[in-house]
Amino acid sequence: MHAESLEFRGIEKFFGRTRALDPIALQLAAGEFVTLLGPSGSGKTTLLNIAAGFLKPDGGSLHIGTQDVTALPARKRNIGMVFQNYALFPHMNVFENIAYGLRVRGVASTDIEARVRRALDGVRLGEYAERAIRQLSGGQQQRVALARALVIEPPVLLMDEPLGALDRQLRKQVQLEIRRLHREFGRTTLFVTHDQEEALAMSDRIAVMRGGRIEQIGRPNDLYQRPANVFVASFLGESNILNGTVQSLEGGVATVRIDGLACEVRGEAVAGVVPGQPAGALIRPEAIAISVAGEGLRAQLIEVVPLGEIVAMRLQLETGQEFWVRRFSGTQVPDAGHEVRLSWRTEDVRILPMQT
Ligand SMILES: Nc1ncnc2c1ncn2[C@@H]1O[C@H](COP(=O)(O)OP(=O)(O)O)[C@@H](O)[C@H]1O
Ligand SMILES: [Mg+2]
Repeated sequence: MHAESLEFRGIEKFFGRTRALDPIALQLAAGEFVTLLGPSGSGKTTLLNIAAGFLKPDGGSLHIGTQDVTALPARKRNIGMVFQNYALFPHMNVFENIAYGLRVRGVASTDIEARVRRALDGVRLGEYAERAIRQLSGGQQQRVALARALVIEPPVLLMDEPLGALDRQLRKQVQLEIRRLHREFGRTTLFVTHDQEEALAMSDRIAVMRGGRIEQIGRPNDLYQRPANVFVASFLGESNILNGTVQSLEGGVATVRIDGLACEVRGEAVAGVVPGQPAGALIRPEAIAISVAGEGLRAQLIEVVPLGEIVAMRLQLETGQEFWVRRFSGTQVPDAGHEVRLSWRTEDVRILPMQT
């Protein structure tokens, strides 16, 4: 088992005069699985391509273990890369696709045979060595691409939306496969997705990106529980956010006067919340109590959506804003069309700045 740390020190990138990456500081410990999560155009692929050596940064340096690799060409970096579109060689069979990286590195053919077999077993394709690529399903092709990246035993593995082309069920399977391979081989992994569920399920840490910047980095649960700002909250998990102005801040608890509603919401303030400034009150769908009578924020229950293990309820506030509440299936919920009241506990609410 061999893994190395990966560090971006002030890496920045321009395309012409457009800044694609602000100076990025990011450090992955040896063996860590970090996910870059962000909307299209936020700079994820650019950062990965710089790590792989396919793109030159305009500033900063890149380090693998104790080595500064900024000036090293891609083929000398010993990094495994998996792309969304597999990028397999269609005219070679499975075995030859995986063997390719070893052949160009001049590995002896007896070693190649053993290593390819081991990589194939690793992704559970032991029976498929002689198959043509076009005879494989999408999920199998992506596992070949994984085996091809793993066979060179790189200390660092980069994956750019490797599951993006798979349907939901296959996605889940290959997600598990990637997690298992990571546990088994412990490679330092930088994984890219724009799918928040995937990021939450797979990562030791998640870096949320926007506009070439890392907005927040942390463990999945910490990001979910304490997002740094409204953008991170809305990108990670289902969010209900009430916008308003901070009235007061005392002992870590802020009170926000909500725009368009004659109400105030109290909650735990995260860093950057300032009295007099705009803020968002984040209330997760699972933290909201719903009742047909009593106190609370008035809302109309528009529809009840069964989602398997949970039911989602879509509501509309008096301002027209949409709200979501979630319950385990089997819990008693009101029927659609009812006017209801929503309530929550102050400790479940986070008051977030609009920007960090
Ligand atoms: N080769 C390129 N030439 C010009 N602009 C580019 C190029 N590659 C990426 N960009 C721009 O850089 C920004 C980041 O792109 P990218 O890293 O591909 O984002 P993501 O992978 O998060 O969708 C975008 O604004 C994109 O349009
Ligand atoms: Mg991309």
